[in-house]
Amino acid sequence: VWRVCYETLGARIRAPEWAFMNYGYAPADGGPVPRLDAVDEADRYCIQLYDRAIGPVDLAGKDVLEVGSGRGGGTSYIARYLGPRTTTGLDFSASAVALCTRHRRAPGTAFVQGDAQAMPFPDESFDAVVNVESSHCYASMDAFLAEVQRVLRPGGAFCWADIRKAAKVDRLHQQLRASGLTVIDEEDVTVGVLRALSVDNEHRLGQIDRWIPRAFRPLMRPFAGVEGTKNFVGLQSGDQRYLSARLHKAGTANAAL
Ligand SMILES: C[S@@+](CC[C@H](N)C(=O)[O-])C[C@H]1O[C@@H](n2cnc3c(N)ncnc32)[C@H](O)[C@@H]1O
Repeated sequence: VWRVCYETLGARIRAPEWAFMNYGYAPADGGPVPRLDAVDEADRYCIQLYDRAIGPVDLAGKDVLEVGSGRGGGTSYIARYLGPRTTTGLDFSASAVALCTRHRRAPGTAFVQGDAQAMPFPDESFDAVVNVESSHCYASMDAFLAEVQRVLRPGGAFCWADIRKAAKVDRLHQQLRASGLTVIDEEDVTVGVLRALSVDNEHRLGQIDRWIPRAFRPLMRPFAGVEGTKNFVGLQSGDQRYLSARLHKAGTANAAL
């Protein structure tokens, strides 16, 4: 279902200015926020979710892989602001990869089609893997984590953020701990994600009206986490939680953490 959904969105809605598909993050008043160029301000909350997921991990000079890169906004943000040596976006959706290749390619940046659970890269190819609001789509989180462990170089970092049903959070913690990577820190960022969804609600509704054909807008609003829809209410009630974690692969070579 997810594959058909993302494939269709990438093929039918080509607007290059639609760059992100995540719920965003807003810290409490006075919390640290990244400095952005005016051109990126419209995507501030979505970018802040990336910033929160990456946290203290230093990507400067590193080979970075983003898994589930979607419409490429996050890969482009990492490449333009965080100083990596190379940035590769991987996504299952061929139409999203084609869109990114058309609109977001820059020196040192590449977009590749492939599955998070069987990545088309040799062992130990990257210093860091970033994964934002994508892993809930995967049939096997264990298979994905095994691939992250395989493609990371010794000393590499895994930066993750995603939504989960509250009943599945314990299982997720077990999976992270059984991955062969070391969990450096984990946090529940639900409050900050809800804050972003509320502050950005009118902007999201406007984007849906601008880009989505009228008949599909009722389907798109829950998908976008609009106030009052299923996932928004689930995050408010505690039935769903938004989590973030950073993990480390043993070794010191090119350490990102
Ligand atoms: C909610 S979007 C998030 C995109 C991006 N990370 C962002 O924050 O804007 C989830 C993305 O994960 C991708 N995805 C889902 N299953 C995947 C898989 N098995 N392998 C790679 N990408 C996958 C989808 O195609 C979609 O682009």
